[in-house]
Amino acid sequence: MTTAEATRTGEAKLAHDDDAVDLPVVTGTEGESAVDIGHLRAETGLITLDPGYGNTGSCTSAITFLDGEQGILRYRGYPIEQLAERSTFLEVAYLLIYGELPTRAELDGFIDEVTRHTLIREEMRHFFDSFPTDAHPMAVLAAGTVSLSTFYPDAQQIFDPVAVEITIKRLIAKLPTLAAWSFKKAIGQPYVYPNNDLGYSANLLHMMFSVPSEEYEVNEDVAKALDLLLILHADHEQNCSASTVRMVGSSHANLYASISAGISALWGPLHGGANEAVINTLERIVADGGNVQKYVDRAKDPDDSFRLAGFGHRVYKNFDPRARIIKAAADRVLRATGADDQLFEVAQRLEEVALHDEYFVERKLYPNVDFYSGLIYRAIGFPKNMFTNCFAIGRLPGWIAQWKEMIESRETKIARPRQVYVGAAEREYVSIEQR
Ligand code: CMC
Repeated sequence: MTTAEATRTGEAKLAHDDDAVDLPVVTGTEGESAVDIGHLRAETGLITLDPGYGNTGSCTSAITFLDGEQGILRYRGYPIEQLAERSTFLEVAYLLIYGELPTRAELDGFIDEVTRHTLIREEMRHFFDSFPTDAHPMAVLAAGTVSLSTFYPDAQQIFDPVAVEITIKRLIAKLPTLAAWSFKKAIGQPYVYPNNDLGYSANLLHMMFSVPSEEYEVNEDVAKALDLLLILHADHEQNCSASTVRMVGSSHANLYASISAGISALWGPLHGGANEAVINTLERIVADGGNVQKYVDRAKDPDDSFRLAGFGHRVYKNFDPRARIIKAAADRVLRATGADDQLFEVAQRLEEVALHDEYFVERKLYPNVDFYSGLIYRAIGFPKNMFTNCFAIGRLPGWIAQWKEMIESRETKIARPRQVYVGAAEREYVSIEQR
């Protein structure tokens, strides 16, 4: 499948000095328009300057549509609310990567292939053994993912569809095993091998929480809740980590290397690491006597670097549709697991205060996907530093779909932004004795 191109729908005029240049305006299927500046530098000598890329479209894409003003999120045209209610994570993975919902036979075939690749090479045990016990699981996951390319050199064949297909299946199959083993290493328990009789999310729970000495039965409601979180995380168009995957992949680095870079980008607390930061904040509030207002005031103070993790989003300026679904699920999971809901209660109060506070209202800061997801991971039993690993497992099909679309697109070039240089003008080298 190649990317559909946006349609040319008009022209924009850019006047500069005594010259004016016409720039094509292109429009996508949902009516979003963009000025195509592909010839700007050649015709005017100018480039555009947009730190943080808030006004820059880096590609055309047919994978995910989101409208931040209206709180709309769709994968391949299907509303997230419908997928969350009726689909499964592996079906959503298929949809994102191949563009259409699978038939029963296609889905069974996909699940079968993914399931067959869940084991990781036995040599990788040494790899886990050699990390310090307090290694952050995101570091281990990123390192483990890129190291898969040492075992599967066919991943270098990025234009060979057969090699790409097997790499995709291996990645989806093995990421939960890598994630669970990074956790087992950290707590000093034996690594648990995958059980291919279990579904995808149930298998992750099995590898995380079972021990050889005891019977462990996966709670189906909990596995379903985890599957839901993975669906909600599965793609989010050109966010920081997806753009990283595309950027690294645009140099023709292999898929394992590109995904590993995406995992590192996701780790940051402004991106996927926010789910861990949210729980840290809620715990601090509880330990501090539950004074929610104090932390809201700190977040508003321009002289305090503290921000309310889980609030705000670059694109959503009304509400994050994923947060609504997750909040309802958090309520259900907490009741099902009987987990201590003190943090949930503080989270709800925090949301209530922030949503009515002028600072948050003016800046359109609403709870995002990470605000309640950490509470569900915590109720399931995941330690805080594993939350972002789970997010990475969920985001994997999106990263793969973005990489595949980029590699298959005729528009793709190596990603190489320009800059406006503001450093020293040319000067003579001064020998060390004279400085
Ligand atoms: N708490 C307090 N103030 C905030 C927050 C917050 N969480 N988020 C934004 N602001 C303020 C910010 O200080 C700025 O105020 P002012 O105009 O007075 O300078 C204004 O709101 C606009 O913020 P920005 O930083 O220019 O917005 P951005 O689009 O660059 O950043 C963001 C988006 C998500 C990085 C930011 O809202 C944030 O840091 N949130 C907390 C971290 C978080 O929850 N990240 C997860 C995002 S969703 C999942 C994902 O991407 O993985």
